[in-house]
Amino acid sequence: MSKWGVTLGALVWVLGDGYRLEQPVGEGSSAMVFTARDPEGARVAIKVGRSIEARGLEKLSHEAEVMRSLAAHPSVLPLLAQGVLDAPLCGLPPGAPWLASPFHAGGTLTAWCRREAVTWSMVGGILRQVLCGLTHVHARGWLHLDLKPSNVFLGDDSGHPRAVLGDLGIARRRDTRPRQKTTSGTPAYMAPERFSGDWDRTGPATDLYALGAVSWRLVTGSRPLRASTLDEWRVVHEALMPAAFVPRFGVPEGLEDWLRRLLAKDPSDRYSEAPAALCALDALSGVEGELGMAGEQGTSTDGPGATLVAA
Ligand SMILES: Nc1ncnc2c1ncn2[C@@H]1O[C@H](COP(=O)(O)OP(=O)(O)OP(=O)(O)O)[C@@H](O)[C@H]1O
Ligand SMILES: [Mg+2]
Repeated sequence: MSKWGVTLGALVWVLGDGYRLEQPVGEGSSAMVFTARDPEGARVAIKVGRSIEARGLEKLSHEAEVMRSLAAHPSVLPLLAQGVLDAPLCGLPPGAPWLASPFHAGGTLTAWCRREAVTWSMVGGILRQVLCGLTHVHARGWLHLDLKPSNVFLGDDSGHPRAVLGDLGIARRRDTRPRQKTTSGTPAYMAPERFSGDWDRTGPATDLYALGAVSWRLVTGSRPLRASTLDEWRVVHEALMPAAFVPRFGVPEGLEDWLRRLLAKDPSDRYSEAPAALCALDALSGVEGELGMAGEQGTSTDGPGATLVAA
């Protein structure tokens, strides 16, 4: 029995063109994710939407459309196939949509926020890859709008972590104004302009704010800001700057300024585009030796980390 309380048992579940399901491996607010084998035996991830209501169907088909429109890039999760369930599966209804993508066995960045024996060279490498992924997504005309630790998947590249940006379910075109004000996202990582649904101020710098919150948490083990309810999150993102910066490992001088610029309240005070943030990160002098600085250890989980989709 898996931690999801289900087992596929002896049943052989075959989806679409021969994807053989193995076991549940992850879940989010809108989907369950399973490992599976593709027809050639390679391991893949199958994300199955929980709902067959119009909104649920729309979310996964939108995610598939975004993935399809992004050309292959090593730091962005590609779409391999899509379909719908033709029978119930682990409480998921027939007709539920699914997407197949390569499986990343290294878990998500959530575990890295708590993990010990992490060094700046590992974290800096991951942040670089996430910025390369964001650069690609933005260059293809999209904003991710839900960057957070649990949406960055990790693989292994000859012993080095390799980060891939996933979960493009609420990505939006940069150049298309939503029909109505939306405040969708994950409150702990949402930039101030997302709470007001201010599309004129929403752009690449909105994803960079989320990256700032993710990076701060990776480096210090704690979120830059804390709140419980959506209203509280709005207030803290709009009004409070993170308090003391206490890294849990040696970091380059200037990293705090880099992070605080990403977390600026006004989008025009942040780096305007991902490549500018990447250049600035590369320009920081690296600290290779581990200083063993006493930092606050990560105790929080992804907590209120589920994506809220509110109109
Ligand atoms: N390709 C993959 N490889 C490995 N694990 C994956 C993959 N896709 C998804 N997962 C796991 O499943 C979890 C949920 O996936 P995903 O974030 O796409 O779902 P969601 O319902 O859209 O989530 P959210 O709550 O962020 O809206 C991920 O956090 C991760 O643990
Ligand atoms: Mg997710």
